Amino acid sequence: MLNIFYQSLFNDYIDEIKINLLTQGSILSNQISKDYDNLEKEAVFNYVSEYVKEMSLKLDSRILILNKEKEVVIDSHDVLKGFIIDKLREIDIALTGASNANLYNIKDVGKTMYVSVPITNKDSNVLGSIFISKNADDIFVSINSTMKKVILISLVGMLITGLVSFIISDVLSRPIERMTEAVRSITMGDFRKKIRITSTDEISNLGNAFNLMSTRLYQVDEQRAKFVANVSHELRTPLTSIKIISETLLASKKDIPKEVVTDFLQDIDSEVDRLNKIIDSLLYLVDMEKKELELELKLTYVNYLLRNVIKRLNPIAEKKNIKIHLIERDRIQVSLDQDKIKQAIINILGNAIKFTPENGDIYVQIYSSPKDSLTIEIEDTGIGIPENDIKYIFDRFYRVDESRARNSGGTGLGLSISQQIINLHQGQIYIQSKVDVGTKFTIVLPKNMGV
Ligand SMILES: Nc1ncnc2c1ncn2[C@@H]1O[C@H](COP(=O)(O)OP(=O)(O)OP(=O)(O)O)[C@@H](O)[C@H]1O
Ligand SMILES: [Mg+2]
Repeated sequence: MLNIFYQSLFNDYIDEIKINLLTQGSILSNQISKDYDNLEKEAVFNYVSEYVKEMSLKLDSRILILNKEKEVVIDSHDVLKGFIIDKLREIDIALTGASNANLYNIKDVGKTMYVSVPITNKDSNVLGSIFISKNADDIFVSINSTMKKVILISLVGMLITGLVSFIISDVLSRPIERMTEAVRSITMGDFRKKIRITSTDEISNLGNAFNLMSTRLYQVDEQRAKFVANVSHELRTPLTSIKIISETLLASKKDIPKEVVTDFLQDIDSEVDRLNKIIDSLLYLVDMEKKELELELKLTYVNYLLRNVIKRLNPIAEKKNIKIHLIERDRIQVSLDQDKIKQAIINILGNAIKFTPENGDIYVQIYSSPKDSLTIEIEDTGIGIPENDIKYIFDRFYRVDESRARNSGGTGLGLSISQQIINLHQGQIYIQSKVDVGTKFTIVLPKNMGV
C-alpha cells in the first residue's frame, strides 16, 4: 500500500521535473535560434553564453549547446567547448527534431535527468540541440519527508480510529458480556443471578427485563422445590403410620384380639384413603395448571347450583347440627364450568362445616354485584383463622393447625384448588376472618364469561 503511494509520488515528482526542464529547454531554444547564425561574433557569443549560464544556475543543472555535428558550442560549466558528444541518445533524437527526456541512475552520481531539445530555424530546420542534465537525487529528500509525514498522519489516524473503536466496542460489549455471563449462570441453575444496570438505554432495558425474568425463575424454582418437599412430606406421613401399624402387627408374638386387629386395619384403611385424596387433589391441580386446559362453559342458573351443593353437604352439617342458610338476593344465570365451580364451592363450604363447632350456622348468599359480576358469600360461625395465617391460606398444603387439620383428614389443598378454579373463570376470591367469631369467603365472578 505504502509502496504504491511512494511510487506514485515519485512518478509525479519526476514528471514535474521533466516538464519543467522541457519547457525551460524550449524557451532557451527559441532564444538561441534567433542568434544561432551569429554565434561566431564574440559579442553575440558572450551574450548567449551568459544567458545559458543564468539559465543553468536557475535550473540547478548543466546546459550544453551543440551544433548539428554534435560539437559543444557553449557549455554552462565552460569545460566541454569543442568536444564532440555522440554517445547520448537524447541528443541524437533532438537532432531529428524531437524533444525528449529520460531518467538514469548513474553510478557514483546518482539519479540524473537528461533532457534534449532541438534548436530550429523559422523553416523548422534543425540547427543544433540543447542538452540539459540535472541531478534528481534531491527529489528523494522531498519524497522521503513527504512520506514521513504521510506515515505519521496514517499512524496517528490509525491510533485514533483504533482508540475510538475500542472505546465504542467496550461500551457496547461490556454489558452484553455481563448479560451472557448471567445467562450462563442461570443455565447452570443459579436463578438469583442479576445484572448490574448502569445506564438507561436499550441495553439496560434488556438488562431490566432479564432481571425480572431471573427473579420470576427464582420464585418458580423455589415454589417447585417447596412443592416437592411438601408432597414428599404429605405422602410420607400416612405411609409412616401404615408402616408402624403393620410392623406392630407382624412383631406381635401373642395372638392379637380381633377388635384390635380391626382397629389397626381401620387405621390403615383411613390412611390409604388419605393418600388417595392427596393424590387425587394433586392430579386435579396439575390438570388445571395445563395451559391448554379449556373450561367447559355452560349457561348455568347459579342459584340452582348453590342449592345443589348445599343439598349434597347438608348431611355432614346435620351431623354437627349446623344449619346452612341460603339467601338468594338475585336470580343469576351465567356461563361457567359447572363441575369446576361446584368443586370450588364444595371445598369452601366443606371447610365452613369442618371448622364450625356443633350447633353453629352457615350463611350462603348470592347477589349481583357492580361491574357485571356476581358475588357468592360463604360465612360461618366457626373457629376463625388467626390474622398471621390468612395470607398463607391459599398456599398448597397450608393448614393453620397442622396436626388437628391432618387428623380431620385435611390435605391443605382444598383452598388452592378453589382459588385456581375461580382464577380460571377470571374471578376473585377474598377472605375475612376473626378467631372464634367466624370466617367469610367472598367469590366474585364475571357475568360475561365466554361471551
Ligand atoms: N372456614 C374456615 N374456618 C377456619 N379455618 C379454615 C376455614 N377454611 C380453611 N381454614 C384453614 O385453612 C386451611 C386450609 O384449608 P384447605 O381447604 O386448603 O385445606 P384442608 O381443609 O385442611 O384440607 P382439604 O380441603 O384437602 O380437606 C385449613 O386447614 C384450615 O386451617
Ligand atoms: Mg378444605
